[in-house]
Amino acid sequence: MAREMSISRTAVWKRIKSLKEFELDVYSVNGRGHRLSQSIELLDPDKIKAGLNASAISTVGEFKILPVVDSTNQTIYDLLGKQSIHAVVVLSEYQKQGKGRRGNNWVSPYASGLCFSLGWHFHSTPASYTALSLATGVAVCRCLGRLGILEAGLKWPNDIVFNNKKLGGILLESRSETAGCSDVVIGIGINVNLPEKILKSIPQPVTDLYRIAGEPISRNALAGVLIEELLKMLEEYQENGFSSCIDQWREYDAYMGKQADLILPNERLSGEILGIDENGLLLMSIKGETKRFSSGELSLRVQS
Ligand code: BTN
Repeated sequence: MAREMSISRTAVWKRIKSLKEFELDVYSVNGRGHRLSQSIELLDPDKIKAGLNASAISTVGEFKILPVVDSTNQTIYDLLGKQSIHAVVVLSEYQKQGKGRRGNNWVSPYASGLCFSLGWHFHSTPASYTALSLATGVAVCRCLGRLGILEAGLKWPNDIVFNNKKLGGILLESRSETAGCSDVVIGIGINVNLPEKILKSIPQPVTDLYRIAGEPISRNALAGVLIEELLKMLEEYQENGFSSCIDQWREYDAYMGKQADLILPNERLSGEILGIDENGLLLMSIKGETKRFSSGELSLRVQS
């Protein structure tokens, strides 16, 4: 490597060390060299755009691929007040401060997942952001289905799951204007090919597309199909609201009829999951009574 790049072996070592900061798994053998534990496919704007249909090409505004950012959601959110964020797409190989729900970090080593955000301007504020984030889950599952991953499901409110393991997550951030319009940043993280070490370090069951499909899934193809499905969903949503997606959400519901714990900030409730109502609220049967739960500080753990 040193010879190839005309730099010293110490300089190579420093660069390898900086790769490790991006949570990449690098095998190093003293005196022999360094190797990534798995191959990576970098994001390529030309490949992503080449996969888009004409309608998506004409809708997408700005399109940015940033090697390293704090958070793709934050990158779009920071544009608010300076420019329109409508149909702005931001993707990144690595987020230093990827945001998850409930203030958690979203962990995704360099080029091992999809860190994706789309900005959208609604001329009239959606009746419910909960329902919009559920509709986003439907768009993600439709996208995965088009790529041959048919068994992915949804866990309320908006985890993408496979066999009780987390495959992806959605984080919506919004800002409403007094004029009745609003801007929303739709953030989506999908695990594509996580290094084994990272997979084991995440304190909840996690999986990725590689492990499900048994073969590499192109992140560029994934990004293109995701853009198309999100734009289609947003158009449907603007026309008909959540009713355009609710039946499909119920089909993708991976926990319907299961016994579960619902963890609220100050209590833990046990019951049977009955699905969602027309506004996307969770329905649970608790001690024989049907209760509804909105988004917020909810955490769901399935026991069996
Ligand atoms: C969750 O906790 O389930 C939601 C995770 C959302 C992660 C994505 S990755 C792209 C976008 N940018 C962020 O900082 N977060 C979201």
